[in-house]
Amino acid sequence: MAELHTTLGAYPLTRMRRNRGTDWSRRLTAETKLSVDDLIWPVFVQEGTNARTPVGSMPGVDRLSVDLLVEAVKQARDLGIPAIAIFPEVDPVKKTPDAREAYNPDNLVCRAIQAVKKAVPDIGIVCDVALDPFNSDGHDGIVRDGIILNDESVEVMTRQALVQSQAGCDVQAPSDMMDGRIGVFRRALDSAGFQHVQIMSYAAKYASAFYNPFRDAIGSSGALKGDKKTYQMDPANSDEALREVGLDIAEGADMVMVKPGLPYLDIVRRVKDTFGIPTYAYQVSGEYAMLRGAADRGWLVWDKVLMETLSSFKRAGCDGILTYGAVDAARLLAKK
Ligand code: PBG
Repeated sequence: MAELHTTLGAYPLTRMRRNRGTDWSRRLTAETKLSVDDLIWPVFVQEGTNARTPVGSMPGVDRLSVDLLVEAVKQARDLGIPAIAIFPEVDPVKKTPDAREAYNPDNLVCRAIQAVKKAVPDIGIVCDVALDPFNSDGHDGIVRDGIILNDESVEVMTRQALVQSQAGCDVQAPSDMMDGRIGVFRRALDSAGFQHVQIMSYAAKYASAFYNPFRDAIGSSGALKGDKKTYQMDPANSDEALREVGLDIAEGADMVMVKPGLPYLDIVRRVKDTFGIPTYAYQVSGEYAMLRGAADRGWLVWDKVLMETLSSFKRAGCDGILTYGAVDAARLLAKK
């Protein structure tokens, strides 16, 4: 019998394209799937009522007063988004070198938590634990003689985590990168009766140039002196991220985060493979600005790059993603 010939060489029977041929087959063979359950929506809150201020470097993102925030969170809940993350723009007159506004039980964050909890009790509330919105230096910790003090900062942030928990925050998310803070927070939360409050540690957070739009949004960019390289990680390092994550887990973190997102997906994969703990990544403000800015100029298609990047986070091993595109993504997922 005559041999069959193909132009494909010695092993023509494997054709990778077969499984890709139809929509149903592509769905059937998909290895990972993005769902609305994977999304955490970061939001910016400001003082005032019925107040909305666009963030210049983040097209489509507004700072909202508490009343408008509540309405926005209702929409997010209706779309099925499981949690929001609240970040405040603090009145500059309330920013001091000791960042004492951070643990004022009536500060903007606590008022926002209370209002959201009351109106939308079934959405999770994540809050940053860090001093940069409250600190006149714009740093995440207390600064003395140009040094960012570790243990003093942890003390102030412990008080911050306690007032936020008292207000009803479900997840304390320290983004400050001070040493030892997870263990200190865990003990303080437990002895104050907040055993149920979760800790999502920004465990591997890099000293990144992708945070600038966020600093505009919370009004800390003007204040920030110098950089954050003495506490945030060097982008060159990967083994160090595993040590950071390992320590935070040992100290009691319930969930860990890698930040920024897309340029650090190799870190996500290593963390997930090594520890198997619920692992999150933050698609940060600069990543959002980059994609949205290009889309607004017609150079990229927003819906497509948003969904592609979020799928990449899932593929890398993320259990969830903090993204400013959460509401858009939730709408797109609902349409499918
Ligand atoms: C600060 C904090 C930052 C972000 C979240 N918490 C910025 C920073 O470390 O300077 C960045 C989020 C983003 O860029 O979207 N504690």
